[in-house]
Amino acid sequence: MVSLLPITARGVNVIRNGKTLLAPLDLELSGGGLTIVLGPNGAGKSTLLRVLHGLERPSEGRVRYACARAEAFKRQAFVFQAPIMLRRTALANLAYPLRVHGQGRAEAEKQALTWLETIGLGEHGQIRASRLSGGERQKLALARALIRKPELLFLDEPCANLDGQSIRDIEAILQDVRASGTRLVMATHDLGQARRLADDVLFLHGGRVLEQGAADAFFNAPQTPQAKAFLQGDLVI
Ligand SMILES: Nc1ncnc2c1ncn2[C@@H]1O[C@H](COP(=O)(O)OP(=O)(O)O)[C@@H](O)[C@H]1O
Ligand SMILES: [Mg+2]
Repeated sequence: MVSLLPITARGVNVIRNGKTLLAPLDLELSGGGLTIVLGPNGAGKSTLLRVLHGLERPSEGRVRYACARAEAFKRQAFVFQAPIMLRRTALANLAYPLRVHGQGRAEAEKQALTWLETIGLGEHGQIRASRLSGGERQKLALARALIRKPELLFLDEPCANLDGQSIRDIEAILQDVRASGTRLVMATHDLGQARRLADDVLFLHGGRVLEQGAADAFFNAPQTPQAKAFLQGDLVI
């Protein structure tokens, strides 16, 4: 099976309503590991993830996958900041992606149950997803994104507004998923989370990638004044 990686973006920019959300971007995503897309609010993090995933079309340039586009969409998933749940039970929400892709009910529910246990919601399968807490819903959204074993997973600030325990649980799941070889690309403006998780960092500011490289190098020796200010906790303008 041909991999969807590497993804290459060449001369990609995104302009909406006359505003440049992403300035010309050249980027290659390959290999394993967890890339943190870091930057202040409005830097263009969500736009970058959406354009790489194929949710958003570039105004110029192209995003290419190593396999055919239709195939590439099947092998990647996206977790949003605010999870959107079906008006069904937690179990049905998890089984849904498998059912849609032709899996029989019994097998889909079996896998869904295994995932529910993995995320600590084994007892909550028959509860409506809408009744779960924010943290539980986000864990469910993460499991739903992972249940079809994507090769690449995008996460857009999945822990924003969650309590500490849920953040820890989600980070632990992400560490396991990374160890199993899934490529992760996650946007955050939470510096602590970035330090805990990143193998490498893309630092965005004003729609531009200002820094890109190994996490250690970025955190220990940032090159740009904007990254230095951001790492010091200053307001970055
Ligand atoms: N359709 C749009 N038209 C104009 N501006 C937009 C549009 N969508 C997003 N923006 C603006 O683009 C900037 C980058 O947005 P976003 O990618 O969401 O940044 P981040 O995720 O880093 O906070 C923000 O200033 C946002 O307000
Ligand atoms: Mg965002």
